[in-house]
Amino acid sequence: MEQGNRKWWQSAVVYQIYPRSFQDSNGDGIGDLKGIQMRLNYLERLGIDAIWLSPVCKSPQDDNGYDISDYQDVDPMFGSMRDMEELIEEAGKHNIRIIMDLVLNHTSDEHPWFLEAKSGRDNPYHDYYVWRDKKDGMPPNDMRAAFGGSAWEWVPETEQYYFHQFSVRQPDLNWDNPKVRQEIYKMIAWWMDKGVGGFRLDVIDQIAKVPDEGITNNGPMLHTYIREMSRETFQKGDLITVGEAWGADTENAKLFSNPDGSEFSMVFQFEHVLLDQQKGKEKWDLAPLPFDGLKDVFDRWQTGLYGCGWNSLFWNNHDLPRIVSRWGNDGEYRVESAKMLATLLHGMQGTPYIYQGEELGMTNVTFPIEDYRDIETRNLYQERIHAGYEKAAVMESIYAKSRDNARTPMQWDDSENAGFTQGTPWIRVNPNYRDIHAAAQAGVAGSVFEYYRELIKLRKIHSVFVEGRFQMLLKEDENLFAYMRENEECQLLVICNFFGKQVSCQLLEEWEEELLLIGNYEGSVKGQMRPYEARMYLRQKQEEPCGAEPGSDGVGCI
Ligand code: GLC
Ligand code: CA
Repeated sequence: MEQGNRKWWQSAVVYQIYPRSFQDSNGDGIGDLKGIQMRLNYLERLGIDAIWLSPVCKSPQDDNGYDISDYQDVDPMFGSMRDMEELIEEAGKHNIRIIMDLVLNHTSDEHPWFLEAKSGRDNPYHDYYVWRDKKDGMPPNDMRAAFGGSAWEWVPETEQYYFHQFSVRQPDLNWDNPKVRQEIYKMIAWWMDKGVGGFRLDVIDQIAKVPDEGITNNGPMLHTYIREMSRETFQKGDLITVGEAWGADTENAKLFSNPDGSEFSMVFQFEHVLLDQQKGKEKWDLAPLPFDGLKDVFDRWQTGLYGCGWNSLFWNNHDLPRIVSRWGNDGEYRVESAKMLATLLHGMQGTPYIYQGEELGMTNVTFPIEDYRDIETRNLYQERIHAGYEKAAVMESIYAKSRDNARTPMQWDDSENAGFTQGTPWIRVNPNYRDIHAAAQAGVAGSVFEYYRELIKLRKIHSVFVEGRFQMLLKEDENLFAYMRENEECQLLVICNFFGKQVSCQLLEEWEEELLLIGNYEGSVKGQMRPYEARMYLRQKQEEPCGAEPGSDGVGCI
């Protein structure tokens, strides 16, 4: 990767905000745009470059904003368009860009297009959605929606079924209709004019579905549509674009994130966070994390995209449980394991994403079922109880995987409701907020927050973080996750003890203490890695200091 070709987003760190849970400014219990603006100093201090804002457009909130009824208006719950413009402007003053969440696979059933479309087969908007006639009095096939139930919904006015991959209130748009695509491009251009820094493309690998053949993601026209969209919109600006693709593998990821800029800046894929579930089953069907599998997945993605694609690095988002509860230890070693997981990820190639509260080591929750708000969780509960599952087993799955684990309010301080709201929060606050909160961490040495801040800083200083070639080490080791990154100037060694027992590590012998860049323990124990210990070393290969003059590494597609 040559310096001249380096894009700004390759050394950037993105922070994801789930607006309704971040900061409430007016006491209605729901986070809002003004609230985000109040916290820009905090974000600047952390050192992030961009905010990925989960959807704030007008929406009936059936799926918390991932069901949009007007792409060009802000939902009153979050504020006004004026607030949005102000946020873009104010964030800019803190050197933070705003990344909008584009939900283009489907709209809300209250979107004017859909209201027209379902009014009759002759309506000009009818073909904006995906309709099929009944077959022997039944839906055209037995495809299922991601949030449960059939993917087909009957509309008496048209005497047809419409297709929905998510909830019944999220009808799928028909991307095969060129008018739909043009409407979308116009809307994207409109947001670009507002000065947004980029876009996150929701379930973008599902837009080119072919329901008749049971195809949801990676349909045959997918890359044609994405390239057209990119050409007509993104390529006219210096944007970061990130495509969410549950169905990506390293091969098609090279298309999504082609360095020629024909599609997106990067792909956001999930292979590593799908490991702790039973093969061929749902995420609720829990299985222990296979550690060798985790190594294998990271190794494959790190080497597979080197020089010919770009990945997102993440443990968390608004759809995933909290990583420290999931694969760390949210009890005795919460701080150590949160830092270890951060180290493991932030040493890799790609653009790191930090999900709100991750930088504090926020944890999962165990609420009674009434306190869950997520449509997916609620539907799952009903479905499994009806199917005869034990309640305790269903709750076990929900504790481990519910999306609401990530959606409890941000923990700002130890005042009532964690400083999130003066009113009643829309979802319960995690009861541990009196111990785990930002006020106790920002500016406090040894905190998870300060550790993240340091990691972000290191990425800006040393080019090896962005450029270095990845090599997995200690592949067979059952406790340690270790790798090397290397470019012309530097070697970066990352060693993480992924578990809660002390183990010995031969690698340590070759790396003197002076080379330690960052670690999550005071001092060291010779030849040993303590529980969840993480160490990052940097060794210069040449005279000049690493990163002062990021050089060329002559990367080609391999
Ligand atoms: C994506 C979003 C998720 C949403 C779904 C449907 O996976 O991240 O929150 O429910 O798409 O839009
Ligand atoms: Ca509010």
